[in-house]
Amino acid sequence: MAAPLTTRVLKADAASIAEAARVLAAGGLVAFPTETVYGLGADATNGRAVARLYAAKRRPAFNPLITHAVDLKTAQALARFNAKATRLAKAFWPGPLTLVLPKAAKCRVADLATAGLDTMAVRVPDHNVARDILAAFGKPVVAPSANRSGHVSPTRAEHVLADLAGGIDLIIDGGPTPVGVESTIIACLDEPVLLRPGGLPRGAIEGVLKQKLAYSPSATRPAQGAPLAPGMLAAHYAPRTRLKLNVRHVEPGEALLAFGRKPAVEANGARKILNLSPRGDLIEAAANLFSHLRALDAAGASAIAVMPIPGDGLGEAINDRLARAAAAR
Ligand code: TXA
Ligand code: MG
Repeated sequence: MAAPLTTRVLKADAASIAEAARVLAAGGLVAFPTETVYGLGADATNGRAVARLYAAKRRPAFNPLITHAVDLKTAQALARFNAKATRLAKAFWPGPLTLVLPKAAKCRVADLATAGLDTMAVRVPDHNVARDILAAFGKPVVAPSANRSGHVSPTRAEHVLADLAGGIDLIIDGGPTPVGVESTIIACLDEPVLLRPGGLPRGAIEGVLKQKLAYSPSATRPAQGAPLAPGMLAAHYAPRTRLKLNVRHVEPGEALLAFGRKPAVEANGARKILNLSPRGDLIEAAANLFSHLRALDAAGASAIAVMPIPGDGLGEAINDRLARAAAAR
């Protein structure tokens, strides 16, 4: 892992918000309060920044993240809203509601942030500090709860510091968060489905939609190997082309997903070769993972051969996602 950073804690004011925007623009990690819990923010359009974020949280897997937008109009440039999604957004944004929607064709959010899925989670937070940072930065920000993976979500700057000191650049202290639990997540792909109960009560949502909501907590994470039920969300990126892991040589007509300086594999006759990180950097590899897989999937190869990837640092999450993508077919 990278050398520890000095994590600065600044009280929320005009100067610290401008600094937060500068750190985000430089690819850094900034924790900030939302109305629900503190989020750990990174530039949603910068795959390397998103990879650093997973590393700081020590997530053993790349769970898709929530993109935070300053307003509905900005969100509409990222994701496709159906009529019910628009109604919910107009009723509850800014506020503790996250919508899972199809990614827009021109969505600039990094593939790693959505874990390679064609859907994305988006919300407009209702907190002055979050909104001021989003406005000053001028781009969408991904922000999972600002805790180490497996710990509870932080509702005060001190919680963030206790969990993430040395792993992130900056914490903006805006006092305790008013709601204290994470946002309610609703998938609005066809019929709305409750994925995670949260700060916005289900009844309020049902009142606006004038319908009962189905609750499908496992929709985002079916048991490993379990088939997706109809209407369930795909939980993991799955290429159409067969994936072969830990290969030492490539058959003619296969595509190669390489890693490291001198790919030590026989790759004569490979249809297409992409290297996750020629210099062997796992953060760079994570940032490239899903976009390289997509490009190789489109190459018309008989299989995608994947070189062995080290399991340390972000390598654990990279190998987890590759194993799921290989098992998905
Ligand atoms: O209140 C909140 O939502 C906080 C604040 C910081 O905004 N954020 C938060 O993020 O709770 P996180 O990363 O801890 O939770 C994100 C949840 C995960 O359960 C993830 O599986 C789900 O959102 N999610 C994200 N993208 C998804 C997608 N495309 N389909 C289904 N679920 C998705
Ligand atoms: Mg969380």
